[in-house]
Amino acid sequence: MQLSLSPPFAFASSRYSQVVFLMVPGVLFCCFLLLLVFLQWHRPKDKRLPPGSMGWPYIGETLKLYAENPNSFFFNRQKRFGDIFKTHILGCPCVMISSPEAARIVLVTRAHLFKPTYPTSKEKMIGPEALFFHQGAYHSRLKKLVQASFLPSAIRGSISEIEQIVLRFLPSWKNTTINALQEMKRYAFDVAMISAFGEKQDLETEGIKHLYHSLEKGYNSMPLDLPGTPFHKAMKARKLLNETLRKLIQKRRQSRRQGGGLLGVLLGDTDNEKLNQLSDSQIADNIIGVIFAAHDTTASVLTWILKYLHDNEDLLEAVTREQEGIRSKIVEANRGLTWDDTRRMPLTSRVIQETLRTASILSFTFREAVEDVEFEGYFIPKGWKVLPLFRSIHHCADFFPQPERFDPSRFEVPPKPNTYMPFGNGVHSCPGSELAKLEMLILLHHLTPTYRWQTVGVEDGIQYGPFPVPKWGLPLRVGRKNKSATP
Ligand code: HEM
Repeated sequence: MQLSLSPPFAFASSRYSQVVFLMVPGVLFCCFLLLLVFLQWHRPKDKRLPPGSMGWPYIGETLKLYAENPNSFFFNRQKRFGDIFKTHILGCPCVMISSPEAARIVLVTRAHLFKPTYPTSKEKMIGPEALFFHQGAYHSRLKKLVQASFLPSAIRGSISEIEQIVLRFLPSWKNTTINALQEMKRYAFDVAMISAFGEKQDLETEGIKHLYHSLEKGYNSMPLDLPGTPFHKAMKARKLLNETLRKLIQKRRQSRRQGGGLLGVLLGDTDNEKLNQLSDSQIADNIIGVIFAAHDTTASVLTWILKYLHDNEDLLEAVTREQEGIRSKIVEANRGLTWDDTRRMPLTSRVIQETLRTASILSFTFREAVEDVEFEGYFIPKGWKVLPLFRSIHHCADFFPQPERFDPSRFEVPPKPNTYMPFGNGVHSCPGSELAKLEMLILLHHLTPTYRWQTVGVEDGIQYGPFPVPKWGLPLRVGRKNKSATP
């Protein structure tokens, strides 16, 4: 019996084991998927991910972000999902934050849980030891030094030097067509060089300028390090820049002449103990970092100021009257522009404030959760990017009525707390804000009483390079005031 039964039974048992063998991985895979779905949707109530759509696998919502204007991409999702929503862009799961209170938590009160994050290619170009990329003791040491270089007490002495730059290049605009963005970049770059190295130029300065320009050409390129690519050329320039900067640093160390500017401050931070000195590469990365942070930002805002003043003639005339009042006192007293003069420009300052709000050239910033974080009733997993959306907050009608209107008078009363962050907030906020505003005031002081400008071409619009700026960099035909500046 056993023998007669055993073959079919044995056959059945072997088929059975085959089926089981095939089914088990399938069942396990299904269980795994169910578990993922369960974890995603059935977290305990306090471990809910923020609402929002993660889009397609891998690409997420990146294509939609590029297809739509970035501002409407964020605006539409905020309207649909609220002030905190999730998405998936550029290969990363992200949480977008567009309420002032939640942005403050990320940037200020729980900033230790959200570290700054940049693509590796950008870190390589700027230099990995620049303060932007760090948290904790190293960051606060550097931040104190950088802040010390750009305090009002430190920059007030640079006013006449900055004025000289303006007076050198303004006459070259007369009766020509300029590209406003390019001219403003030139101006902001020269100011950044003085801030970095001091007023006295070293032999190496020209070389540094040249190499920096080669570096910046590749900054927004594809990070493809192959011979001939813009990225490769930029990395080569970065290496040479490092060597030139090291020579300058060594020269200043050996001559015991720290010199001026941020470089002087960084070299001076020794406590007389060699061990405590900043290394050459720490100094070089931070010098490049500050030049990088200082010049495209300021140039983009200045370009917008020219655009808004061009579009609002009455405002331009009112700013001109304010500046002419100051100019006549200066001429009477036969002296140069002073820090105190720049504190007596309320309308011009409000035009700058309103431009910073309307243009919001840093639309958002990137942070990354360093651990799983409970956040405003939601769960943000470790490694997710968190983006406070400055622009959305600056364009919210609850805080800035009729947000699309350019209206400097709204700053006659201070904005509500945490609703106005053109220079960021918290530990990583901008140490260069006073210098940036000073540069703008000095330029407007000399520009508005003497010159007028007309846009060339009729096309309004925005381009990104990388900051939002008027289309084509705002070509302008410039002429003397009271004479026609025909396009
Ligand atoms: C209008 C011009 C400027 C704007 C709108 C601007 C805006 C900002 C913003 C929003 C941040 C914070 C970024 C974040 O939290 O991730 C920042 C950081 C920074 N800015 Fe500016 N900035 C301007 C000009 C300058 C200038 C002139 C300098 C240098 C003198 C400068 C140096 C820096 C540095 C070094 C940081 C990094 C600070 C840190 O990580 O602790 N910026 N800037």
